[in-house]
Amino acid sequence: MHAEPPAYGPARRESNVALLPILEYPDPRLKKVAQPVTRFDERLRKLAADMAETMYAAPGVGLAATQVDVHERLIVVDVSETKDQLYVFANPEIVWASEETVVCEEGCLSVPGIYDEVRRPAKVRVRAQDVQGETFDLDCEGLLAVCVQHEMDHLLGKVFVEYLSPLKQDRIRTKLKKRKAREAA
Ligand code: NI
Repeated sequence: MHAEPPAYGPARRESNVALLPILEYPDPRLKKVAQPVTRFDERLRKLAADMAETMYAAPGVGLAATQVDVHERLIVVDVSETKDQLYVFANPEIVWASEETVVCEEGCLSVPGIYDEVRRPAKVRVRAQDVQGETFDLDCEGLLAVCVQHEMDHLLGKVFVEYLSPLKQDRIRTKLKKRKAREAA
């Protein structure tokens, strides 16, 4: 177990990567519950690298495998300004959460153009495995804590808009439908 997670800087970003299509809410595939990662092989490392590049290209600060229609417990996160603090979490679990909560305006690459406030624990300790299968703990606060919790929700088939009132969720679905229709026209 590491005290520190592996930090994949730009040097570790692969060159031979593919951008993956991102599912958009309310696609029913976003509701699938992800299965644990069991094989820490080349395929997993390629998936993590592709997910990272897809996140950076979007641009976004986090992406869950669920969002690219891969239903395995894998997320990538980089909340740094400099985009060189990539964290890859396989099989993430929250082993501790603060009683203190924080409200943050969240957005999601699967819910483009929609932002709203969600309340979550302000600090969490996450236990996960890296792409080699090594277990590590990471204490998260600020935007990193919010982002990790948001991405872990995706693995359970949950999108952040589900924290909002049913009325707001209706409005969001209508808005997204209208936008899709406009784009198709
Ligand atoms: Ni999201």
